[in-house]
Amino acid sequence: MKESVILDYNYLMSVILKKEGAISDEDIGSIDERAQAVVRRLDAERAAGGLAFADTDELSRHLPAIGETAARIKERFPTLVVLGIGGSALGARAVKEALVNPFAPTGTNVIIADNIDPAYTAGLIDSLDLEKTAFNVVSKSGGTVETLAQFMIVAGLLKKRLGDAGFREHIVITTDPKKGVLREIAGEERIASLEVPPGIGGRFSVLTPVGLFPAACMGVDADKLLDGAAGFIRATRDRPWDENPAYLYGALLFIAAVKKKRNISVMMPYSGRLFSFALWYSQLWAESLGKPGEVNGKRRGVGQTPVAAVGVTDQHSQLQLFMEGPEDKVITFIEVKDHGPDVVIPNLWGDRESMGYLGGKRIGELFDAERSATESALAVSGRMSMTVTIPDISPESLGTLFAFFQEATAFAGYLYEVDPFGQPGVEEGKKYTWGIMGRTGYEGKLREYRNRPQKQPSYTRGA
Ligand code: PA5
Repeated sequence: MKESVILDYNYLMSVILKKEGAISDEDIGSIDERAQAVVRRLDAERAAGGLAFADTDELSRHLPAIGETAARIKERFPTLVVLGIGGSALGARAVKEALVNPFAPTGTNVIIADNIDPAYTAGLIDSLDLEKTAFNVVSKSGGTVETLAQFMIVAGLLKKRLGDAGFREHIVITTDPKKGVLREIAGEERIASLEVPPGIGGRFSVLTPVGLFPAACMGVDADKLLDGAAGFIRATRDRPWDENPAYLYGALLFIAAVKKKRNISVMMPYSGRLFSFALWYSQLWAESLGKPGEVNGKRRGVGQTPVAAVGVTDQHSQLQLFMEGPEDKVITFIEVKDHGPDVVIPNLWGDRESMGYLGGKRIGELFDAERSATESALAVSGRMSMTVTIPDISPESLGTLFAFFQEATAFAGYLYEVDPFGQPGVEEGKKYTWGIMGRTGYEGKLREYRNRPQKQPSYTRGA
């Protein structure tokens, strides 16, 4: 394949699936005006300096600082722990799983601690050799309670063991260039820091120092990740929306949701190395689109529920639901043309009907056969799917995928008439947490929390 990515949407189309209720060319035509308005809006925002997540020239200005800081960390520390959550962690997780061989890691071992589960936190701390561990504290806002709590724990331990001078050598802060308490602390404590460009929020930040610095520490070529994204953006920027595979992907899922009641988007890469990518996609799709939007002249909650799956594992888990459960899903397969190393299955028990045919075949042949078989079985049952094909799992291909789905999400967001870059719905829970934990200024929220709908013992059961 010479393209860096191909979107195949045959199995969404009613003419191919021979199924009413799938998508027709008329359905696509019917949103043309709306889609063109979205293109104009995106172009105008870009011209005014917005949509910084896709400005790869600007993003590449951070590469020297990323490279220098990563070189210092790699030279001295065998372990780097990333303290961050949501968009400040999932990109790095996706990069690590895709591009670092878990059986033979090369660079610094990067642990992404994106949960404050108490037992996990205690276990992690117990396991670390603090002298040999660096910490990357990642928060765009600089105010995320979980990340600040993790940072305080780690800072307390490091300061006790190494004093102030030693402590600062073990920390790299990645945050807003000007705002937030982490930026203040980086300045006061003279801690090395990297910048999250203003205007780029968590889940759109994988191609900033948020994702690229941990990547570089892992030994992944951050320049190539960005090259992959830049190549895709360059190739598609001036195309009509329905010739841009990312915009078309966003539009097709928009149609599937609002016209065909497909309210679930399953991301199912056929690569064990892309399951965390599916988790990254899930956050992007859910947190960007799940909001009050405008559909058929009415304001209502919109967005699709993302589901992360992975081939072949989920053939033996969720596939039954996809095949015969409610017809409320679109499945996106990711096909990888070249998986890299492969293994031949030996010729053993050749006289056994259930095993003999496997002898001499590659495990990759079986893997690809299962992808094609699953896609086909779903299509024969009239179930809707798309396939996004990439040539391999390389930094460039992963960069391309990040750019593809970020662009698709922004496009879908404006089709729904939501702001894909905010997340107002998660603020209330945060404020209650601050109230419960005694933060000054949130006493009113604590009262509200105490007045929440009261539970009754009669609606509980134990055993
Ligand atoms: O996508 C988002 O904006 C969120 O998921 C954030 O990444 C998450 O809440 C963490 O925020 P921050 O990076 O400000 O600590």
